[in-house]
Amino acid sequence: MEQIENLAKQALQQIQECTQMKELNDLRVYYLGKKGPVQELMKNMKNLSPEERPIFGQQVNQLKGQIAETIEQKKEELAMKEMEEKIEKEKIDITLPGRKPVVGNMHPLNLITQELEDLFIGLGYQVIEGNDIVSDEYCFERANIPKDHPARDMQDSLYIDPNWLLRTHTTAIQMKVLEESAPNLPIKVVCPGKVYRRDDDDATHSHQFMQMEGLVIGEHVTLSDLKGTLEFMAKKLFGQDRQIRFRPSFFPFTEPSVEVDVSCHICNGKGCPTCKNTGWIEILGAGEVHPNVLKMAGYDPDKCSGFAFGVGIERVAMLKYGIDDIRHFYTDDLRFLDTFKRYE
Ligand code: DAH
Repeated sequence: MEQIENLAKQALQQIQECTQMKELNDLRVYYLGKKGPVQELMKNMKNLSPEERPIFGQQVNQLKGQIAETIEQKKEELAMKEMEEKIEKEKIDITLPGRKPVVGNMHPLNLITQELEDLFIGLGYQVIEGNDIVSDEYCFERANIPKDHPARDMQDSLYIDPNWLLRTHTTAIQMKVLEESAPNLPIKVVCPGKVYRRDDDDATHSHQFMQMEGLVIGEHVTLSDLKGTLEFMAKKLFGQDRQIRFRPSFFPFTEPSVEVDVSCHICNGKGCPTCKNTGWIEILGAGEVHPNVLKMAGYDPDKCSGFAFGVGIERVAMLKYGIDDIRHFYTDDLRFLDTFKRYE
């Protein structure tokens, strides 16, 4: 009995003093294990009289239960303490400044494209895209560009094989739209996209750039409709005070053809370096769709007419945002690209 008492004292004291979960676990294995001191006590059983044995057995079992229960209590106590320590350590300082996630923004060329799309959708146009790789037929032949035209020169175009090339202008989309729509009227579309030319890159040239083609075909569509449309566009892009003017020009796919200038938005037409002191800035080419183009697509030029225009997205972006080098758009410099956050 004395042994039992001593063991109880020792065990309970050790358990009480224990401060670590691992230590407590070791104590549990030691005291309650098969080779532990409690089990060891049982070996004394054989030395006792038959009357004493059940009492002794009961005492040993009680001791076992007491040790187990104390360990359980201690375990809860230690777990609680661990949790409190963890919470204490994990305290979040809500006054610390947060880490700013890096958020991208729209590319300036997409900003302009989207602005133009929104503007034309508002006028009832549809937005149509085409393939970057087109056949010679749709890029040139259908656009009334004869075989010997300089634009066909292998110097200017990136051919994949004798029949297929990277489109040199979005006019190739116009030709597809015409063919697919014929003979239905009206057509009102804008077609944005990348175009490619065999050019050496410099401040104003890029072998890849973007255009947006516009096309309207109907029964009585005239040059004055074109003028009204483009004036609306110029005002939206460069401010309500803008005016436009037409200058005669030549494109194989339009007749008559015009070059369109917008009054300079920097000097208001007075003359400055941006407009080379003329007060006007050229922004796009346009014209009445050539009867040959209509015919090839399946339209009767006596029954319908229309206008088309092709605007360079980089050119508009450079004018609008005051950018002096077209290569900025394609060199992925975040210091440049980040400055367009404010336009979103
Ligand atoms: N395709 C011409 C170019 O790349 C731009 C153009 C001019 C498109 C007049 C047109 C147009 O639709 O009518 O320079």
